[in-house]
Amino acid sequence: MILVFLGPPGSGKGTQAKILSKEMGLSHISTGDLLREAVKNNTPLGQKAREYMERGELVPDDIIISLIEEVMPKEGGFILDGFPRTIPQAIALEDMLKRNGKELSKVILFEISEDVVVDRISGRLTCSQCGALYHIKYNPPKEDLICDLCGGKLIQREDDKEEVIRRRFKVYQEQTQPLIAFYRERNKLFSLDATQSVEEISKKIIEAIKNGS
Ligand code: AP5
Repeated sequence: MILVFLGPPGSGKGTQAKILSKEMGLSHISTGDLLREAVKNNTPLGQKAREYMERGELVPDDIIISLIEEVMPKEGGFILDGFPRTIPQAIALEDMLKRNGKELSKVILFEISEDVVVDRISGRLTCSQCGALYHIKYNPPKEDLICDLCGGKLIQREDDKEEVIRRRFKVYQEQTQPLIAFYRERNKLFSLDATQSVEEISKKIIEAIKNGS
């Protein structure tokens, strides 16, 4: 099973990828998480990516494609969360899978408006230790700013300020939305209303995969 989670910033891709990778025994590959880790550790990749991420822009395709080539599992299924985000990335993914004798199973499109996204992301808290996701209103931790799972400190991401969120949404519309037609033509697309509850969305994705819809 090879899945792509496609959708605007804050549409819930990471939340669902974390839940469903555990439930379905799949690896979870988040380009955003990999890049943030590289920035935190000040690696050569992090140094190249930092400025783009802070501005809410996409990191250049060649950097992202080599990163995916490095981390893509040789065995077992996986969820790609936040990749591909441009047509050249989608074409590179097709080539990579073909070379390994694999095929993409499904692309899950998370549909949501800009205003809901701004509300969600501006309330998002991320665990600095284990990466668990929370929301001040919709999914608060039991104790203020402390992770329920590992006791780590909860922080706000650098690119979660309103003006950067709006820039990220615009970049999504300009550079990532063309992938909807790309995958629809290939009969891979399953669209869902991403304003539903976390549980409802997980259920719909599992159903779509089982029914092959
Ligand atoms: P990345 O980390 O991928 O950010 P993103 O796509 O902007 O997505 P987010 O992580 O912001 O949101 P999400 O959809 O995962 O939502 P979440 O589940 O957290 O990328 C960051 C940057 O890295 C990019 O801007 C770019 O610079 C670079 N980058 C990454 N990949 C790249 C690529 N392929 N090419 C080039 N550059 C790349 O949920 C959000 C909030 O809502 C949380 O608080 C959560 O608790 C809450 N929530 C989730 N679901 C629900 C629900 N159903 N109801 C209510 N609240 C919910």
